[in-house]
Amino acid sequence: MINKNLEKAINDQINAELFSAYLYLSMSAYFESVNLSGFANWMRIQAQEEQSHAMKFFDYLNERGGRVILTDIVASQSEWKSPIDVFKHVYSHEQKVTGLINDLVDMAIKENDHASNNFLQWYVAEQVEEEANASAIVNKLELMGDTGNALFMMDQELGKRVYAPPAAEAE
Ligand SMILES: [Fe+2]
Ligand SMILES: [Fe+2]
Repeated sequence: MINKNLEKAINDQINAELFSAYLYLSMSAYFESVNLSGFANWMRIQAQEEQSHAMKFFDYLNERGGRVILTDIVASQSEWKSPIDVFKHVYSHEQKVTGLINDLVDMAIKENDHASNNFLQWYVAEQVEEEANASAIVNKLELMGDTGNALFMMDQELGKRVYAPPAAEAE
C-alpha cells in the first residue's frame, strides 16, 4: 500500500496533468480562433497526451491501494499574443512540470518507495521529450518567423501530427 504523502502528491500530479490537458486544449481553441488549424491539431493531440499522463497516474494509484481524489481544475488562460508566445508558454509550462516530477521522485526516494521511483522514471524520460519538442518548435518559429509563408508552412507541418497512445510497457 502506498504511503499517504505520496498518495497526496500523486493526486496533486493527476490534477496538474489534467490542468496541462486543459491548458493545451485552450491553446487549441485559440489557434482555431485565428484559423491555424494545423497548430490547433498539434495542441489538441498534446491535450490528449496529457490526459493519458493523468490516467497513468490514476491507474498506478489504484494499483497501489491508494484512493484517487479528483479536485477542481483551475481555468486556463485563453488568449495569447502570437504563435511564438504560445509555444514559449508550452516550453515554460513543461519545465515547471519537470520540476514537479523531480519533486515526486525525491519524495519516492525519501520514503524508500522503490516501486514509485521506478514508475516515475517513465515521466522523467517523457519530460525530456516534452521539453525538447516544445523548445524545437520555439527555435523554428524564432528562426523562420511566425507570420506569412513561414507560418503557413509550420501550420502544414503541425497539422500532420497524429495521436499515438503511450506504449503499454509500464502497465
Ligand atoms: Fe504530462
Ligand atoms: Fe507535458
